[in-house]
Amino acid sequence: MEHTHRTIIEPFRIRAVEPLGITTAAEREVALKRAEFNPFLLHADEVLIDLLTDSGTGAMSAAQWAALMIGDESYAGSRSFYRLESVVRALTGIRNVIPTHQGRAAEHILFSALLKPGNVVPANAHFDTTRANVEFLGGIAVDLLYDEAMDPQADLPFKGDVDLGKLRDVLTREGSNVPCVMVTITNNRGGGQPVSLGNMRAVRALCDEFKVPLFLDAARFAENSWLIKMREPGQGDRTATEIAHETFRLADGFTLSAKKDGLVNIGGLLGINNDALAELCRTRLILTEGFPTYGGLAGRDLEALAQGLQEVLDEDYLHYRHASVRYVFDRLDKLGVPMMRPPGGHAVYLDAGAFAPHLPKNQFPGVALVNALYLEGGVRGVEVGSLMFGKPATPSEPEELAALELVRLTFPRRTYTQSHMDYLVEVVSHVWYHRDKLPGYALLEQRPVLRAFTAKLAPLA
Ligand code: F0G
Repeated sequence: MEHTHRTIIEPFRIRAVEPLGITTAAEREVALKRAEFNPFLLHADEVLIDLLTDSGTGAMSAAQWAALMIGDESYAGSRSFYRLESVVRALTGIRNVIPTHQGRAAEHILFSALLKPGNVVPANAHFDTTRANVEFLGGIAVDLLYDEAMDPQADLPFKGDVDLGKLRDVLTREGSNVPCVMVTITNNRGGGQPVSLGNMRAVRALCDEFKVPLFLDAARFAENSWLIKMREPGQGDRTATEIAHETFRLADGFTLSAKKDGLVNIGGLLGINNDALAELCRTRLILTEGFPTYGGLAGRDLEALAQGLQEVLDEDYLHYRHASVRYVFDRLDKLGVPMMRPPGGHAVYLDAGAFAPHLPKNQFPGVALVNALYLEGGVRGVEVGSLMFGKPATPSEPEELAALELVRLTFPRRTYTQSHMDYLVEVVSHVWYHRDKLPGYALLEQRPVLRAFTAKLAPLA
């Protein structure tokens, strides 16, 4: 589409609608108390605008709903699998295409075939489930972002890039103890920040030099391609499709949560060039996911995914997608709300540490902010800070807290409109103007792993 007007519109019209959960302030107070002040424990019906995640929460297109109807539910050799396989091969150039029920299943299968205890897996930044799978199998997950990428204020275009000096050091030191290098596009841990093509080419060269395979965690490959087109010198004239093609062709394989840029509500993929490794993965897959031509999904899911992967690189969609993130970012920035800079691909990350400097880390400023947004306007974000990444004290070790206290406002794809975003800005700004009144929180109950999902909390004031 030619862009001659300033307003960037949602490039779709709405064909099926779903009512929002409209509640009063008093009802939200009761609900949050019942949820032990942990928004993960709310009923989704109690949430007005749900920005908890962009994973599996998007809207499918009319063409995807139509594709569901032609899904082939054959146990083995489903036509829908072969359609998906040919779409994925054309997109990625990767030979072996293995469906899984979601991204983490692909990660588990890959690492269970590739990893030996004590192996080191370097990445720009492992997503939580990738790290957990590496560690569960006895490996060591190492994050190698540039130091500046950790500074929320540093306004750099590619804060997802791998620090090449650090990667060379790890590859030199660990030698054959490195079974693969991972690059997560975009870096969800640190603001949805993209990885540049220049950086990925350099990582490829290092992998060639040290004879190590390169895998992508490609959950948000289309958003990464768009941000390369927008930000990387020399890439502006290429299409997002061309950039995505080159990105995947730099790698030996990928894991992919289709719940993001696959534009579906469930699904994942594992792609591998090495035939022997792929065979090993298919054998593992049969144990946990099912037959290799359906991988834990229905035939109709495979159809919807094949269609979604073709739609997601549409540049009118990608333009609108990033514009909606940037719109919220720019409006909040004008009000002085501290955020991770620059705006990334799928979310706005509020810097809760700077938002509520009166709250020490062990009073969970991110939780304070998430809960205030819910109470104020029924908006649900997610804390990405010391509740999510911290660990309780043990007899031998002190309590561990996160480096950054962030709140992620994650945008489901094709789901909310600009007036929802205007409302969101209004809610955040109200909380911002009353920020000195945000109470800290005490942790009443926690489990030893992934405590954020089940923790029980209480306000201190
Ligand atoms: N890799 C990345 C970069 C992710 O963001 C996720 C999921 C996964 C892998 C795992 O995929 O959920 O299909 O098993 N991220 C979601 C989120 C959960 O909210 O950011 P999955």
